[in-house]
Amino acid sequence: MSVPPLVDIHCHFVPGVDDGARDLDDAIAQLTEYDRLGIRTVVTTPHLAASAVHGRWRDDIEAAFADLSREAARACPGVHLGLSFEFRLDDPDADLSDRSIGLGEGGRLLVEFPMLAMPAYPDRMLEIVVTAGWAPVLAHPERYSGVERAYGWVARWREMGALMCLNAGSLWGEHGGEAQRVARRMLADSSVDLIASDNHARPNRAATVRQAWDYLTEAGCEEQANLLTAANPAAVLSGERLTAVPPCEPRSGWMDRLRRALTGG
Ligand SMILES: [Fe+2]
Repeated sequence: MSVPPLVDIHCHFVPGVDDGARDLDDAIAQLTEYDRLGIRTVVTTPHLAASAVHGRWRDDIEAAFADLSREAARACPGVHLGLSFEFRLDDPDADLSDRSIGLGEGGRLLVEFPMLAMPAYPDRMLEIVVTAGWAPVLAHPERYSGVERAYGWVARWREMGALMCLNAGSLWGEHGGEAQRVARRMLADSSVDLIASDNHARPNRAATVRQAWDYLTEAGCEEQANLLTAANPAAVLSGERLTAVPPCEPRSGWMDRLRRALTGG
């Protein structure tokens, strides 16, 4: 099996602007590892409140990204690096009209709900984004506390045109039991559009899309692995239509077996 050119559209490598990479060295070390793993396209997505889209903080992020981009071109030329944001939907009146803030050229915007919790009005939050002319890419839908009980919202969000972007680490339980169960349920009923890393360039938040590709391939879901970590994230960036992902039940991946071996479970 050959690894396709992998794409990561959600990670936190701009140094010193959020809870991701602390400095340029951390960011370059992680991008060098990405290069080695065959992750060819990376859009780094610092946290930004939707209410701060026009603030000075965004200027600081863009300046720090320019430094990172220069150094990355020298240190890991095999990785194509871009900038977007992970917008926290904190303001129903946020002005999201600036067309330069999205993921690539595709008219898609990476968004998250505040506090890693299901919002009181989960459709209203995404309507703000759709009304501004974007297709929302919902970051880690499996991680919002309470989503397992309210699982019907996943289908509703997709009906609204939102794309569901799992965190790689949720597959093997990095974000806890509820996130892992919901991630697997979404994979089993074809509710996932793509997988990204949400890598924070820190030892406890260093999952990669290559690990997700390995995990799914090992579990017998090679077609899904290729779509979720290569073809579909590339389509998000280019604006092309995504390919529907067939059901996949990755219940016997190597990470599960490794964990069982280590814990004797
Ligand atoms: Fe993130």
